[in-house]
Amino acid sequence: MPVSTARPRAKTETDTVPAEHSLGLATRLRRNRKSDWSRRLVRENTLTVDDLIWPIFVMDGAGRREPIPSMPGVERLSVDEAVRASAEAARLGIPALALFPYTDPDLRDPEGSEALNDGNLVCQALRAIKTEVPDIGLITDVALDPYTSHGHDGLLENGRILNDETVAVLVRQAVVQAEAGADVIAPSDMMDGRIGAIREGLDAAGFEDVQIMSYAAKYASAFYGPFRDAIGTAKTLSGDKRTYQMDPANGLEALREAALDIEEGADMLMVKPGLPYLDIVFRLKDTFGLPTYAYQVSGEYAMIEGAIRNGWVDGERIVVESLMAFKRAGADGILTYFAPRVAKRLAGL
Ligand code: PBG
Repeated sequence: MPVSTARPRAKTETDTVPAEHSLGLATRLRRNRKSDWSRRLVRENTLTVDDLIWPIFVMDGAGRREPIPSMPGVERLSVDEAVRASAEAARLGIPALALFPYTDPDLRDPEGSEALNDGNLVCQALRAIKTEVPDIGLITDVALDPYTSHGHDGLLENGRILNDETVAVLVRQAVVQAEAGADVIAPSDMMDGRIGAIREGLDAAGFEDVQIMSYAAKYASAFYGPFRDAIGTAKTLSGDKRTYQMDPANGLEALREAALDIEEGADMLMVKPGLPYLDIVFRLKDTFGLPTYAYQVSGEYAMIEGAIRNGWVDGERIVVESLMAFKRAGADGILTYFAPRVAKRLAGL
């Protein structure tokens, strides 16, 4: 045997493990995880900027940004500031924004009539953003809660939310938004039959190409708390929304909701809240195969951001991990208040 003149190599961990301790396993799942290049090669899901939808809050005035205490890092924006934010989002490659208004309390009434005013905040923002940032997708919420004095998504009569009467108003709200430039109508009200009625109303008004993203499975959730602060309904909401939003205990019912919405013409489905309802995301995508989105809602944002700000979790990693979970469950995209931050990070900025 030739005598090596090389210096003996440094002892490694394997030198110290006697061979007889090997389990003789043919399959070792850790092999593929041994280095970064290998982990990247075997990765099943990816998160890109194309997966992000950024919800923003619009308010009256000019040059105004107002912090939302229960959503640290998120602000309400006046329309001109919303235009600026949209331009930034477009520059980062974020495909679409979802708009929500903080309506002046004086403009709220029991019928939510401000929802039908084509000069309301959402319509102002739609027109301004469409003019200045024409290539970004604009998604609008159809529901009456930002406009009603009682904070409910529909018309209230003797303590009941009226279904069919509400749907008639929602159809008009959707058409008003489409006229102002909405690309995607996202009904979040959970009235029965609203997708079909809105589709018909949009088509009759000549908006065959306006898409509908149905909040197909929207649960009566405590995770919406900070959002209600953001749009100013937290204090005014009388009672709760359990007669129209879904019971968190139900899963099969989400399949029935989605099946109806698809039959009525929904182009895309949404599940809300997000992380606590990943099983629903998976089941809807698995069953129907439609473009399916998840809304990482305000309470989820507040929990994650609160822990980050306290230094309790690694903020660099936890946000991307939470969004990757949606991709793994089958979501085609995520509505998330982290969108601009993540887009910057993905771009290496
Ligand atoms: C209401 C609406 C809600 C959200 C979006 N649209 C709240 C509710 O149903 O009370 C919640 C979003 C969030 O919590 O981030 N139409």
